[in-house]
Amino acid sequence: MPEIGKLLPALLVAGTMGSGSAFAQAQAPTPLAPTPTTAVPASSPAPSPDQANDPELARGAYIATAADCVACHTASGGKPFAGGLKIATPMGDVVSTNITPDPEHGIGKYSEKDFEQAVRHGIRRDGSNLFPVMPYVSYAGMTDQDVQALYAWFMHKVEPVPVSPPEDATTLPAAMRSAMMAWNYVTTMEKPETGDSGTYDPVRRGRYLTSALEHCGTCHTPRNFMLSEKQDRFLSGASLTGWYAPNVTSSKTSGIGSWSEDDIVTYLRTGRLDGHAQAAGPMAEAVEHSLSHLTDSDLHAIATYLLQVPVMEDDLDVKPRDSFGKPQEVADIRHDVPKRIDDLTEMDGAGIYDANCAACHGHDGAGTRNHYAPSLFNNTTVGSARPDNLIMTILKGVDRTTKDGHALMPGFGATSDVERLTDTEIASLVNYLTATFGSGDHHVTAQQVADFRNAK
Ligand code: HEC
Ligand code: HEC
Ligand code: HEC
Repeated sequence: MPEIGKLLPALLVAGTMGSGSAFAQAQAPTPLAPTPTTAVPASSPAPSPDQANDPELARGAYIATAADCVACHTASGGKPFAGGLKIATPMGDVVSTNITPDPEHGIGKYSEKDFEQAVRHGIRRDGSNLFPVMPYVSYAGMTDQDVQALYAWFMHKVEPVPVSPPEDATTLPAAMRSAMMAWNYVTTMEKPETGDSGTYDPVRRGRYLTSALEHCGTCHTPRNFMLSEKQDRFLSGASLTGWYAPNVTSSKTSGIGSWSEDDIVTYLRTGRLDGHAQAAGPMAEAVEHSLSHLTDSDLHAIATYLLQVPVMEDDLDVKPRDSFGKPQEVADIRHDVPKRIDDLTEMDGAGIYDANCAACHGHDGAGTRNHYAPSLFNNTTVGSARPDNLIMTILKGVDRTTKDGHALMPGFGATSDVERLTDTEIASLVNYLTATFGSGDHHVTAQQVADFRNAK
C-alpha cells in the first residue's frame, strides 16, 4: 500500500504544525478535535427525548442528545442534522455531512449495518474511511442496542433535508481518506460495551456516558505523536484550537478532585459553578446541546465516574485553579502606580479593566451579587497557569443558553462594526487580571493574543 506510506507522514507533519513555535504550550492546536468554527445557533433544537413515545425511539432520541450529533452536523442557521458545518483541523477543514434520512443528500439509503459501520468504525456506505473528526473512536464503545435505537430514531424522527453541503467545502484531499485506514490500526478505539446500557450501575453508566457517548476525551485528553488520544493521560487536559480543555481528573491540585459530586453535576447541567468555574466556547456548546438535557441520574453517574478517574498531575497547574485571588479594588492598584512607574503595562491593564469589565464584574472583581457576572477571583479561567481560556473569553465572550437562563458576555475581539480591544490592550488586561486575581503575571504579549485571535 504505497499510497498510505506517502500520505501518513504527510498527515503527521500536518498534525504537528505549530508545535515548534515559542508559544506552543498555549497555542498548539489539537488535531482532529472538534472546534466548530461556527457556533450552532441556540435555536437549532436539540432532539428532545419526549418527542417519541415508542421506547426504542425515545432511547434513540436520548442517545442522539447524549452523543451530541447535532453539534457537528448542523451549520450555523441551518436545519438540524443537514450538515455543512466547517470544522477546522490542522490538516485542513472538514465539512460535516447531511445525516437526515433524505435518500439522495443524506443517509436515507443507509441500512442499519451501514449506519453501524459509520458510527462505530468510521466507514462510509461507499466503503471509504471517514476522517476521525467524526468521533467514531469514542462511539465504538456504544452498545448494539443503543446503535439500533439511534438508527431507528434518525430514520423515523429526523426530518429529511434535500440539500448537500457545498462540495468544494472540503479542503482535505480526498486521497487522505485511505491513510485513515492505517491510522485506525494504531489508534485505540473504545471497547464496545454490551447488554442494556440503561441497567448499568452508576460507575459503569458514568464511564459509558463519558467515554463512548459524550466523548469528553476528544477534547480533554492529550494526543500522542500519531494524533491518537493518550490513554494513559485520560482527561488530563489538552489544547483545542484556541481554547484549552483543562485537566478534569480527580487530582485535588491539577484537576477537579476537590469538587463534590453535586458541584460537578451543577457545572455540567448549567455550565457554571458559582465561585469556581463557568463554561464558554466548546464546553458551553457541550452543555447547551447535550449535557443540560441529560437526566439527573446520568449527570450523577458522570460525576461519580469522574471522581474516580485516575489522578493526573499537571506540569503547570500545580495549585487548584479556583483557589486564587481575593477582592481587590481597581483604585488600590491605581494608587500603586507611582511606585511602579517602570511598569506601565500593569497600570494600563487596570484602566482597561475599569473601562470595559468593571461595570459587570465589579471594581473589586467580585462580580454581580446574584453571580450573573461571575467573580474573577476563585475563577478557574483566571487562576489557570495557562492564559488560553482567559484570552479566548475576552475575544469571543460567553453565549450559553440552558433551562437555567442565558449567560451572555460580549466578546471584545474585533468585529467590523464595533470598536473593540486591540491585541496590546488585551495582553495588558490579561497580565493585570492574572497578577491581581490569579496565579501571577503571565507576561502575555500582543503577538500571543494575535495568534489566539487568528486561531481557527
Ligand atoms: C465532533 C463532530 C461530530 C460529531 C459529534 C458527530 N459527527 Fe458524524 N461526522 C462528522 C464529520 C466531520 C463527518 C464527515 C467526515 C468525513 O468527511 O470524513 C461525519 C460523518 C458522519 C456520517 C457519514 C455520512 C456520510 O455518508 O457521509 C454519519 C452516518 C455520521 N457522521 C453520523 C453521526 C451520528 C449518528 C452522530 C452522533 C452519534 C455523529 N455523527 C456525531 C462530525 C461529527
Ligand atoms: C468540544 C470540546 C469539549 C468537550 C466534548 C467536553 N469539554 Fe469540558 N471543557 C472544554 C473546554 C474548552 C473547557 C474550558 C471552558 C472554559 O473555561 O470556559 C472545559 C471545561 C470543563 C470543566 C471545568 C474545568 C475548570 O477547571 O473550569 C469540566 C468539569 C469539564 N469541562 C468536564 C467535561 C466533561 C465531564 C465532559 C464530557 C461529559 C466534557 N467536559 C466535554 C471542552 C470540552
Ligand atoms: C455585560 C456584562 C459583562 C461585561 C462588560 C464583561 N463580562 Fe465577563 N462575564 C459576564 C457574564 C454574564 C459571564 C458568564 C457567566 C456564566 O458563564 O454564567 C462572564 C464571564 C467571564 C469570565 C469567565 C469565563 C469562563 O469561561 O470561565 C471571565 C474570565 C470574564 N467574564 C472576564 C471579563 C473581562 C476581562 C471583561 C472585560 C474585557 C468582561 N468579562 C466583561 C458578563 C460581562
